[in-house]
Amino acid sequence: MNLQYNFSGGPGALPLPVLMQAQQAILEVPEVGLSVLGISHRSDWFREVMDEAEANIRHLLKVPQNYHVLFLQGGSTLQFAMLAMNFGGMGESPPSYVSSGYWSRKSMSDSGVGSGMRIVWDGESSGFRRMPKAAELDIDSRTSYLHYVSNETVEGLQVTDGLFAGDVPVFCDMSSDFMSRPVDISRYAMIYAHAQKNLGPAGVTIAILREDLVERAQIGLANILDYRTHIAARSIYNTPPVFSIYIVLLVTRWMRETFGDLEGLDAVNRRKASLLYDVLDAEPEFYSAHAERESRSVMNVAFKCQTPELTAQFLQEARDAGLHGLEGHRSIGGVRASLYNALTEHEASVLASFMKIFSKRYAEAREFSLADA
Ligand SMILES: Cc1ncc(COP(=O)(O)O)c(C=O)c1O
Repeated sequence: MNLQYNFSGGPGALPLPVLMQAQQAILEVPEVGLSVLGISHRSDWFREVMDEAEANIRHLLKVPQNYHVLFLQGGSTLQFAMLAMNFGGMGESPPSYVSSGYWSRKSMSDSGVGSGMRIVWDGESSGFRRMPKAAELDIDSRTSYLHYVSNETVEGLQVTDGLFAGDVPVFCDMSSDFMSRPVDISRYAMIYAHAQKNLGPAGVTIAILREDLVERAQIGLANILDYRTHIAARSIYNTPPVFSIYIVLLVTRWMRETFGDLEGLDAVNRRKASLLYDVLDAEPEFYSAHAERESRSVMNVAFKCQTPELTAQFLQEARDAGLHGLEGHRSIGGVRASLYNALTEHEASVLASFMKIFSKRYAEAREFSLADA
């Protein structure tokens, strides 16, 4: 049994009971008698898998009836472009974007919207250390839509209550905090998230889209890039990632059985994050958190040690201790502990203890060598 702890930024850890069922399903799905890797996407069994996965998502997120739930491919990166193609021309003025970190910048550059795009808030000058409040957004009410990223995976920043502006349709990339907490879906035009953080392996992306918007989407797009195609085909227009969707079903079942609802899961996730932020707060001389307090992410805790050498040492010793995936994103370095749904409270507490022991040992050694000098 693998006893390594996985703090990877994504693809992230999956629950052990799900991995065990997946292992069995690779050989044989008990109710079918075939490997999950060789079952037709047109089979009755797979239709049931999709229906139950959708029902679980609807139940846990309390998705209103007037929203479609789609299983798409191409990752969240395809959604950056696809939503802009479909909805970029909806308003009298161009789409609006919040620029709050690495992934929101990618959502802008990959949208294809080009120079007409309006940036309604930009965190670059403050080093992408916080998320804006809705009141800070400089929005033109005629804009086609407002796009933001709810959780900046790289910098470890999270929006608390959502960003809304009157009747402007809001599109949100929730890739790294999807289904980790309750969300009022009715306030959004569309939310989307790839599976590989909180919901399953890479390969499938969930989009939850309000029905009436579809009528306002661009006409004449290639079928595969048109949301209407996927709605009409109930997410089986071409061959979907059967295995990934099957795992989403197992993970959502696990979520319902283990936590009951997203309120319960959110409480656990907050406790996990507090374990780490408490250590960072208790030792400000040794550790520095990237995010300002009000924007701290519950999913990704990004920080550095006192010096780059100590950060490298921290990562090496953590790996040796069986704590994996803690390297910060290549764009900002440092340490990033990702605490997605499958990461247990116990695992977070082991990392918190490791952080305390590490800082104590190296702070003392440093004091000693300074006194010695
Ligand atoms: C918030 C966010 N959005 C988008 C992406 C890109 O997702 P994908 O690789 O599925 O295209 C990532 C990747 O980690 C992410 O964290």
